[in-house]
Amino acid sequence: MTNILCIGAGYVGGSTMPIVASHCPQHRFVVVDINEARIAAWQSDKLPIYEPGLDEVVRKTRDKNLFFSTDVDKHIAEADIIFVSVNTPTKTFGQGAGKAADLQYWEKTARQILENSTSSKIVVEKSTLPVRTAEAMERILNSNGKSLHFDVLSNPEFLAEGTAVRDMENPDRVLIGGRETESGQKAVEALVELYANWIPRERIITSNLWSSELSKLVANAFLAQRISSINAISALCEKTEADVSEVAHAIGLDNRIGKYFLRASVGFGGSCFKKDILHLVYLCEQYGLPEVATYWEQVVTMNEYQEMRFTSNMVASMFNTVAGKRIALFGTAFKANTNDTRESPALEVCRTLLEEHAEVVMTDPHAIENARYDLGELAQRVIFEPDPYTAAKGAHAIAILTEWSQYTQLDYEKIYVSMVKPAFLFDGRNLLDHRKLYEVGFNVYPIGKPALTHLHSQ
Ligand code: UDX
Ligand code: UDX
Repeated sequence: MTNILCIGAGYVGGSTMPIVASHCPQHRFVVVDINEARIAAWQSDKLPIYEPGLDEVVRKTRDKNLFFSTDVDKHIAEADIIFVSVNTPTKTFGQGAGKAADLQYWEKTARQILENSTSSKIVVEKSTLPVRTAEAMERILNSNGKSLHFDVLSNPEFLAEGTAVRDMENPDRVLIGGRETESGQKAVEALVELYANWIPRERIITSNLWSSELSKLVANAFLAQRISSINAISALCEKTEADVSEVAHAIGLDNRIGKYFLRASVGFGGSCFKKDILHLVYLCEQYGLPEVATYWEQVVTMNEYQEMRFTSNMVASMFNTVAGKRIALFGTAFKANTNDTRESPALEVCRTLLEEHAEVVMTDPHAIENARYDLGELAQRVIFEPDPYTAAKGAHAIAILTEWSQYTQLDYEKIYVSMVKPAFLFDGRNLLDHRKLYEVGFNVYPIGKPALTHLHSQ
């Protein structure tokens, strides 16, 4: 039996460890976090994150070979392998503010591992980190007077929220980076063995430490770049009467391009894309590559432009003013099937509409509480309403901001009747049947397609 510890019970640690535990009944897993409320939630019937299929995996493993605890020190002492998935937010102060990663939690965790260790261990970076962090961590860990040896591995997480269970059960690949020393390679092999309990060996790839760290940033940068690329084209489509879905379909059938991540939207959100691209930009700047930095920074700039363009279009279409108008935002989560609202475009749209003095109502099947929390003081000016029908009642406009399938099932005739006329619908996810909505009476504004409006004929 191997004792496996994960430090950080957030979206990453909390959703991956139960799945690993379910495939490795011979090992013992503990997930620790300094946040007591979070650990209590992991031990309860209402998990702190909404992730389809996760409840079942947790129920199957919890208190058998998977345990949640706040006693970080004790479990460090007992562990053979430690995964670290504490958060690495963008720095808000000092050098690199706004771009570089804030590594204070990581370093603190490394020191805590050192203080509480009485045996040699493998430490696995699961958090996304700037390239060469593993090296710094190795230095801290191995500068000990205890003659203990620590091997630091990089094992980036590629799962996406909303499909975390499926992604972890059946990943495209698992990447493990390690030192090319004998002990480094032994550590890599130990981690390969763990994953080989359910993942075919050919999908478990290994590399040197820095390639692995960099690959995570690059994977996210490439994914986000595709969204910014199609969103840039959506702006052009709106001017030329081309249809961005048709363009995406046509180009995506070319195998060299591929069909994924070409859905034009109000913008990408989530805790990873923006943060990781800004890490990459900072790294390039630090290594004296300003052209490369500027190239990648454009992906974030384009995303901000897309969010801004969406709200400007709302205001312009609604006769250049939304002051005092009730506007219902459908969806607060950054994507469907998660309760996560970090960097959600819905929050950005909400902030802009509040600046325009609109009366904003937000609805979401799972993410209202997180939206309230993430909006901070502004939340006091927002009406949160779990029922979409009530949210839309008396509204001048609806904006679809998360692609929840629930929103395709609503009775839009009933909604239309309850709204102020002319009724507007802005579909930031191209989720709904626009022609049908137009026939119901809505003035419909999709992304990257011609608007369907009754206004010009009046
Ligand atoms: C985090 C990072 O944001 C991401 O870059 C990385 O790839 C994986 O880890 P996530 O799990 O989504 O992703 O973050 P979050 O939900 O904020 O969870 C981090 C957890 O670590 C929190 O529950 C926090 O309480 C905990 N933590 C943080 C510790 O237990 N100890 C610390 O010192 C700091
Ligand atoms: C992402 C990566 O996909 C994952 O591999 C990594 O481990 C973490 O970051 P995540 O942020 O959870 O995962 O979700 P993802 O599905 O990538 O979506 C990110 C954002 O892009 C969402 O706001 C989503 O709505 C948006 N998106 C995605 C689009 O606007 N268009 C698309 O075609 C795809």
